[in-house]
Amino acid sequence: MSATLASFPAGGIAVVVGATGGIGAACLLALRAMPGFSQVVALSRAGAPPLELTDEASIAAAAASLPPAPLRLVLDATGMLHEGAHMPERSWRQLDPAHMARSFALNAIGPALLMKHFLPLLPRDGKAVFATLSARVGSIGDNRLGGWYSYRAAKAALNQLVHTAAIELARQRPEAVCVALHPGTVATPLSARFAKAGLQVRPPSEAAAELLAVIDRLGPAQSGGLFDHHGQAIPW
Ligand SMILES: NC(=O)c1ccc[n+]([C@@H]2O[C@H](COP(=O)([O-])OP(=O)(O)OC[C@H]3O[C@@H](n4cnc5c(N)ncnc54)[C@H](OP(=O)(O)O)[C@@H]3O)[C@@H](O)[C@H]2O)c1
Repeated sequence: MSATLASFPAGGIAVVVGATGGIGAACLLALRAMPGFSQVVALSRAGAPPLELTDEASIAAAAASLPPAPLRLVLDATGMLHEGAHMPERSWRQLDPAHMARSFALNAIGPALLMKHFLPLLPRDGKAVFATLSARVGSIGDNRLGGWYSYRAAKAALNQLVHTAAIELARQRPEAVCVALHPGTVATPLSARFAKAGLQVRPPSEAAAELLAVIDRLGPAQSGGLFDHHGQAIPW
């Protein structure tokens, strides 16, 4: 599958946040290989200026550092499933308040701050998209296996934040789109320990191509939704 992002007005800027991650780096590469955007900006905590999700000032500074052309696409590919000794919980016995708070900080509050500082930069006319990578496991309606309490709950919160921001966005930017996307299971450091046999694990390049093709097809009618890498809506 190959996307051209021809649905966007030519000459704008695209931004990938979390450009150092497995999926983020693949999206950056794919976007830079496409015509259409005048510049594709990579943001990450290792970049210049550094963008650290838990430091709002760094997010504001990164937003302020963008070149002066219309911002047409923001793709947020940040996120955290496990960190250090903290693995996704199998039982309520493993719930740890500090890890829960960290998961919410990175998977929900950080992306909300990205919306706070980047959504106002979207042009008032023409297609513009803010897409953040969520996860199917954040769907309450789809939760049949349990476990992964913190990640599931933080992604569910992210989905609600996206839906809420989309309503506000539509008031002044009727052609803009704000969505949460599920990339499927992708071979990255985030998923490596958990990609069970039977699950279809795809390389980041394939996931990036699929996600960009979905973004190319999105319109205002889809704003506020949660979609998988085929463009199928996922229940809340
Ligand atoms: N891989 C999958 O199978 C899968 C499935 C469903 C959903 N997702 C979602 O897809 C997204 C991308 O996942 P991935 O698999 O590409 O993971 P990844 O390779 O671990 O990348 C995570 C990205 O998040 C960034 N990040 C983490 N903490 C940060 C912080 N405090 N401040 C700024 N950036 C931070 C990382 O930056 P550093 O490089 O600096 O660490 C990295 O760029 C996540 O939201 C994940 O939940 C992935």
